[in-house]
Amino acid sequence: MSARLLLCVLALLAGCQGKPPSNTVQGDPERGRIALAQHACRACHMIPGLTGPETHVGRSLAGLAERRFVAGSLPNNQPNLVRWIRDPQSIDPQTAMPKLGVSERDALDMTAWLLTAKE
Ligand code: HEC
Repeated sequence: MSARLLLCVLALLAGCQGKPPSNTVQGDPERGRIALAQHACRACHMIPGLTGPETHVGRSLAGLAERRFVAGSLPNNQPNLVRWIRDPQSIDPQTAMPKLGVSERDALDMTAWLLTAKE
């Protein structure tokens, strides 16, 4: 085997080990940004990357990735955020956030934007 071929094989093997870390955010953030705008989440939340009026019905969603809990007592992780966005009342029947008919895919992409957006 030539040295060059050997190098290529080694490079390929190294590439195979490059698994993404388990805490990688799933979904498509840019698609999520559009879905957030289409569902008018901005009517109640300040959201990085989306313009609109000063609003404080729900809290700002800037820096969401830094929070340990959301909506009071829900541990902050991507599956829980998707659940919350799709059906807040299933988690907290008293919450003022309405159920907005968000699809699973849109909710996942929204969380991808919210968890990675820089202010
Ligand atoms: C009518 C106003 C309203 C709309 C529209 C709305 N929300 Fe909310 N949202 C709230 C309120 C109020 C809370 C606080 C809930 C609580 O703590 O019980 C909240 C909480 C949240 C939280 C948890 C934040 C935290 O730090 O506790 C997330 C995430 C969230 N909303 C995302 C969204 C998304 C995404 C949309 C659009 C699909 C949306 N919201 C639309 C009112 C709204």
